Amino acid sequence: MIAMIGKQELAPTEEVFPELTRDVIDRMSKAKSARLREVMEIVVRHLHGIVREAELTQSEWWQAIDFLSRAGRMCSESRQEFVLLSDILGVSMLVDAVDNVAGPGISDSTVLGPFYAGHQRELAEGDSILLREEASEPLVMSGRVTDPEGEPIAGALIEVWQTAPNQLYDVQDKDQPQGHLRASFRSNSAGSYRFRTIIPVSYPIPDDGPAGQLLAAMGRHPFRPAHIHFMISASGYRTLITHLFLDGDQFLESDAVFGVKPSLVVSPESKGGINTVNYDFALARESHIGSTRPPSFVAANSEKSSQ
Ligand code: BEZ
Ligand code: FE
Repeated sequence: MIAMIGKQELAPTEEVFPELTRDVIDRMSKAKSARLREVMEIVVRHLHGIVREAELTQSEWWQAIDFLSRAGRMCSESRQEFVLLSDILGVSMLVDAVDNVAGPGISDSTVLGPFYAGHQRELAEGDSILLREEASEPLVMSGRVTDPEGEPIAGALIEVWQTAPNQLYDVQDKDQPQGHLRASFRSNSAGSYRFRTIIPVSYPIPDDGPAGQLLAAMGRHPFRPAHIHFMISASGYRTLITHLFLDGDQFLESDAVFGVKPSLVVSPESKGGINTVNYDFALARESHIGSTRPPSFVAANSEKSSQ
């Protein structure tokens, strides 16, 4: 298509109003943070590029502003619409891929999601993370936390969370005891952990707001395959944020947030009539002191920790 600037016609390869982009970038020359200037220059170039390439109309831009305003208004202590938008557009998985060390001997990471609720009660090895009975099949999760060479890491903090069978996290559902199906454990001297839970279910991400409207408009479903979240941290190692998914789930190939990696798909085995999953997590060594732990985006009945 031929772009117009005033009455002047431009060939598709020519940029509309390039001096504007240059001017916006040049005016950041006094920014105190070099990193901020670097990132904002890229943001401005790409934003202007989107407007040019899509030949955005004024009305479409107003719609975009309205969409983002509605996303902002949707955010509360129990809802993070911007995390959802980042997740459904694949941005969270891309940041994960760009920022996380991957490689032999290191477990794969995936999205945090918006339902991490901060440090939870620490339970003893073998304890159940349920605070009420659920009519679901029990599952025993166990394994080891190791370094990249497979040597045990003792005292690692293992935080886990999952939905109830009604497809909701405790923080989304006032009828669940807060802290239900989420807890923390420590690996023992052999690096081992073990806890009791229930077989997770697939569930739709919250789709009653702008992110859900966008999913529907793009012709996509909101479901995530059944999974249990893990966040594993230990001094000297990079915090691992990941999930384990259940093999056979109908949404493994079409996770609404693109979070599935083959190494994270597990099949429970029946041992003595109980479903068990044994999975070892290997952490990458952290090259700088103090591995970053993410903020919790939802308020819950949790002891907020500075770990
Ligand atoms: C989750 O798995 O908890 C989740 C991840 C991304 C968006 C919504 C939920
Ligand atoms: Fe989840």
